[in-house]
Amino acid sequence: MYRTNTCGELRLEHCGREVTLAGWVQRVRDLGAMTFVDLRDRYGITQIVADENTPDEIRNQVNALGREFVVQVIGLVRERASKNKNIPTGEIELEVRSLRVLSASVVPPFTIQNDTDGGDDLRMKYRYLDLRRAAVQQNLFLRARMAHVTRGYLADHGFIETETPVLIKSTPEGARDFVVPSRMNPGEFYALPQSPQIFKQLLMVAGFDKYFQIVKCFRDEDLRADRQPEFTQIDCEMSFVEQEDVLNMFEGLTRHLLKEIKGVEVDTFPRMPYSEAMEQYGSDKPDIRFDMKLHEITVLAQGKGFPVFDTAEYIGGICAEGCGEYTRKQLDELTEWVKRPQIGARGLVYIKCGTDGTVKSSVDKFYSEDELKNIADEVGAKPGDLVLILSGDKDHTRNALGLLRLEMANKLGLRPKDTFRPLWVVDFPLLEWNEETKRYFAMHHPFTSPKPEDIVLLDSDPGKVRANAYDLVINGVEIGGGSVRIFDSGLQARMFEVLGFTPEQAEAQFGFLMNAFRYGAPPHAGIAFGFDRLVSLFAGLDSIRDVIAFPKNNSGRDVMNDSPSPISLEQLEELNLVIKLPE
Ligand code: AMO
Repeated sequence: MYRTNTCGELRLEHCGREVTLAGWVQRVRDLGAMTFVDLRDRYGITQIVADENTPDEIRNQVNALGREFVVQVIGLVRERASKNKNIPTGEIELEVRSLRVLSASVVPPFTIQNDTDGGDDLRMKYRYLDLRRAAVQQNLFLRARMAHVTRGYLADHGFIETETPVLIKSTPEGARDFVVPSRMNPGEFYALPQSPQIFKQLLMVAGFDKYFQIVKCFRDEDLRADRQPEFTQIDCEMSFVEQEDVLNMFEGLTRHLLKEIKGVEVDTFPRMPYSEAMEQYGSDKPDIRFDMKLHEITVLAQGKGFPVFDTAEYIGGICAEGCGEYTRKQLDELTEWVKRPQIGARGLVYIKCGTDGTVKSSVDKFYSEDELKNIADEVGAKPGDLVLILSGDKDHTRNALGLLRLEMANKLGLRPKDTFRPLWVVDFPLLEWNEETKRYFAMHHPFTSPKPEDIVLLDSDPGKVRANAYDLVINGVEIGGGSVRIFDSGLQARMFEVLGFTPEQAEAQFGFLMNAFRYGAPPHAGIAFGFDRLVSLFAGLDSIRDVIAFPKNNSGRDVMNDSPSPISLEQLEELNLVIKLPE
């Protein structure tokens, strides 16, 4: 037996017992008369002590230990003279009676404790060492618990966990595919799934009724804090349901997770149409932990001779509560912030509302005090508040105002990580116009059903057609998205036509799906949650990398095993990827 107990387990009640522990040496402190060793495993840290009563041979063994040695220690549990209230085992220590080094360690490249001295790159290179740190482990243990609770909930509600293939057919919609060459089929490629979308719909045609899978998805897109090239979804589909049924089921799952994992009870999730989200928050994923809504002031602000406003399609403002005393420097910093390329505003107009009822603005020469007060009123400002105004084309300006809203909320501490405000955003547009390619793209995916009452617009005004599509947003993070699906092969064919596919292209890409629909497809709908995002939200982290055991960096590289990497000429030839020029 390697151990009788773990390093996180022993308490005062164990005093007097002889136990065996095994773990990693986190720290050795040789104080002359005594040597202390912090022994660590997944469960915690126990202090091992060798003192004047310890035989010399063992004492020398203890003193020879290095950081990250793996050892087995037999010893007597005793009460500590000076207790450490910060750790659960802090009242006891283990008086060493025998010690065995199971595995030595070279000096690790950084200290493996919660406040490590290792920089990001180094920790990623030695991720297996970084993963020894309790703070990092906790995130992955949280992930495991959340997966377990999710499985339990969905299984209890009749969902069948079904695996779908990872080598699939490449489809040109959505993000870019990762592709895999087929050795047995020269010149042909599989794609890795961006999601199991088509397969889960086929499972509905197959009569599975309720499907789920916690599944890896792959997307070759630009990476950000909330995007990895391979990520995990809680992917689900249900038959004989409408949007309402899906929202209720997955609201149930989210509430269950919040309750079980965070001990938090939340009210019924509000619903907000996409158009309202864009109007009031400048985003399709509003953070509703705080108000600070966008207010359009185009009519109020135009026609007073300020050329920037007079030529703008849209003028809007937000009210930063209690910021009426912002200094010149603070306002200059904000102006620089909105001019950054990521935000892309040309400038920032402000109105400072003094506590004495006066107003001061950066455009005083164009507006009377009353006119400024009217604008401030419209934006909901009170004495002591600051109104921030942006102008330009409508979509872009709303987006910039939405980002400014988040920035101000960060400054004002309005985004506490332990508050959870879920929201359903509904009624997304079905299609999105792409100016570059001059064609419509499906906003969610091509299998999403238009709202029945909007189908007539498919011919006359496709951009106006709303979809039965929905997103779950929590604290401004898009956690999940889904839709009611088209289950009629005729409508599906029409949809491909609107998306610019010829009947031949649609047949080549999606023929099997449309064919399946000819054999009796049930009405069906579904959703997928981004599991990494959900876990990082629960963990209070800003990046999903911290909840993934072996993540990729921002260039899509795994710096630990140095992938992607070149492959040998033999491999390339075997895969028919070498173009041989004629002799
Ligand atoms: P969608 O594309 O909206 O829907 O994806 C669902 C959720 O997956 C998460 N997500 C990501 N997480 C990390 N890294 C990424 N690169 C990444 N891309 C997406 C997001 C997102 O909300 N098949 C449909 C679902 C359906 O219609 O049922 C789909 O994949 O949290």
